[in-house]
Amino acid sequence: MSLQDFLASLDALQCDAQSAFDSADDAESFEAARVAFTGAKKGRLKDVQKQMGAVPNEEKKTAGLKLNEVKSAIQTALETAQSRLGGGDDSGVDPTFDPTLPGNRPIIGHIHPITQTINHLMEIMGRMGFEAAEGPEVEDPWHNFVALNIPEDHPARDPLDNFYLATAAAAKADRNVEGEQLLRSQTSTVQIRIMEERQPPIRIISLGRVYRPDQPDATHFPMFHQMEGLLVDKNVTMANLKTVLRVFATNYLGDDVEIRFRPSFFPFTEPSVEVDFLWDGTWIEFGGAGMIDPNVFKAVGYDPDEVSGFAFGLGVERLCMRRHGITDIRDLYSGDLRFLRQF
Ligand code: DAH
Repeated sequence: MSLQDFLASLDALQCDAQSAFDSADDAESFEAARVAFTGAKKGRLKDVQKQMGAVPNEEKKTAGLKLNEVKSAIQTALETAQSRLGGGDDSGVDPTFDPTLPGNRPIIGHIHPITQTINHLMEIMGRMGFEAAEGPEVEDPWHNFVALNIPEDHPARDPLDNFYLATAAAAKADRNVEGEQLLRSQTSTVQIRIMEERQPPIRIISLGRVYRPDQPDATHFPMFHQMEGLLVDKNVTMANLKTVLRVFATNYLGDDVEIRFRPSFFPFTEPSVEVDFLWDGTWIEFGGAGMIDPNVFKAVGYDPDEVSGFAFGLGVERLCMRRHGITDIRDLYSGDLRFLRQF
């Protein structure tokens, strides 16, 4: 074969390869061009390379130079097509990657049912004009007991019924220790803190944790939450209290909720009631309420002849359980995601 013929077939090859790669518009036509021109067995480049053997020896150098030029032109055409089509074996894309498979979902947490309940209760009470207030979980005996009309020798102050933080010596003494502290046993403490800071009219709720050394069972846990309510103004009556609690209950538990007020006793209210809701045919106690005792007003420096008010304290866990049909309070604190994911 003459040099001229060889060079001519190289030109034709380059020209054909260029247009084949340029016009490849999918993986299939690209692959067809790749096999046709650069395939190791039947590719046209291979054929032309073989023909070089027939070129006279003294012209092999020129033929070889041209062959290399054409080879690299074809390689460039191939790579250009490959990157244009976004595929190919050495594009860096894993050929086993299947973009249609579902991805790995990141685990995103969500709000705990008790926090959801607290937010819901704040919203309902907020619509009745009750502002959310906060108080500390570590309290002193004044706010947890004395100002709430629970005197020093009252059984409610027993160390066995409370989590005192004082030193062993202080706890053993008659609890008349300077600086004595305990985990609050009720959110009623916040009533005192707010009344000490502000003047009537007052309309607040306070939602938070309280602590009692109770043995855990389906309805008890040593830590739980309460919603405390306090309204102080002029001429407040028991009818106002009952209305607020009834409106709250129908909003949170539904129009058909049945509510019962049972005469009771709390040191900080007079008269006092326990608040029950019907739950699957049984009356269940959800908390206490009453008209603020004059001694409490005196403790915070209000004149009991001038102002009157009511207060209530309801168990948040119990409300949440009644609404969602939860039968064991411990489920709320198990950390079991199969339970928590239902909310
Ligand atoms: N603090 C009471 C308790 O934990 C509940 C309670 C009763 C709160 C009467 C009140 C109230 O505000 O007026 O058992």
